[in-house]
Amino acid sequence: MENFGWDWFVKKAYQKTGFDLNAYKRPQMERRINSFMRTVGAHNYKGLINLCNEDEDVRRSLVEHLTINVSDFFRNPNCWQVLQQDIIPDLLKDRTPIKIWSSGCSTGEEPYSLALLMNEYFPGQAVTIKATDIDEVALQKAQTGSYSRKAVQGIPSHLLKKYFTEDESGFAIHDKIKRMVKFGKQDMLEDTFPSDLDLILCRNVVIYFTEEAKNKLYRKFARALRFGGILFIGSTEQIFQAKDIGLESRATFFYQKSRLDK
Ligand SMILES: C[S@@+](CC[C@H](N)C(=O)[O-])C[C@H]1O[C@@H](n2cnc3c(N)ncnc32)[C@H](O)[C@@H]1O
Repeated sequence: MENFGWDWFVKKAYQKTGFDLNAYKRPQMERRINSFMRTVGAHNYKGLINLCNEDEDVRRSLVEHLTINVSDFFRNPNCWQVLQQDIIPDLLKDRTPIKIWSSGCSTGEEPYSLALLMNEYFPGQAVTIKATDIDEVALQKAQTGSYSRKAVQGIPSHLLKKYFTEDESGFAIHDKIKRMVKFGKQDMLEDTFPSDLDLILCRNVVIYFTEEAKNKLYRKFARALRFGGILFIGSTEQIFQAKDIGLESRATFFYQKSRLDK
């Protein structure tokens, strides 16, 4: 008889959604799946997969529920100061346009913070900003560029005034900033990476991954950078074997790909 336990569910969930639970920490994922099953009224994994088969909305909300989309504009402001005052000026000395990738961009706060920063403090400097996430619902929200009053709290008031329009539901980001970011769906564990990048942001994503998935991922990020390029990670994260993958610490939470001439 077929066993409809965890391993079965992992396989089915992958076939249905493309989301590979094997790469994520199991206890966290189990908790989230159990709470999702209660919400949609599924009594077990089999029931949940049946629901996903019948209803596209359930399938999409399952992915939405598994991904943790919390984000903020200029999250950890001290790091953004280092980015503005030290990292970006150096990258621009090397070459332009600079190519930036926000990987795991959630609802857009991170790539839009980059676009705001570039537009305000480095006007006229050419930049491309790619922003990707596995969660289609989060990406749709990102593309609207509309945020609640609470969501824009982290934005310095002069930037909020200059680059957003207030309406009845909150704040809408100006088209000029919106156009600077190209959003797309991408699974960083499976899909191919862009290459020759100057700056990659992958923040507050790997905390949910197994050690194995995390190590593989950092290696792929290192390869995707140009020599001298920078990887910017989250404020609870650290790359222990950075040297082994060709990265060196440049500032707290910033790693630089070693230059060829070193
Ligand atoms: C907590 S948010 C972080 C958002 C933003 N980087 C920040 O620091 O504010 C984590 C994001 O990672 C995304 N994510 C999780 N697994 C992913 C994967 N395999 N590929 C791409 N994105 C993924 C989730 O959908 C979620 O939007």
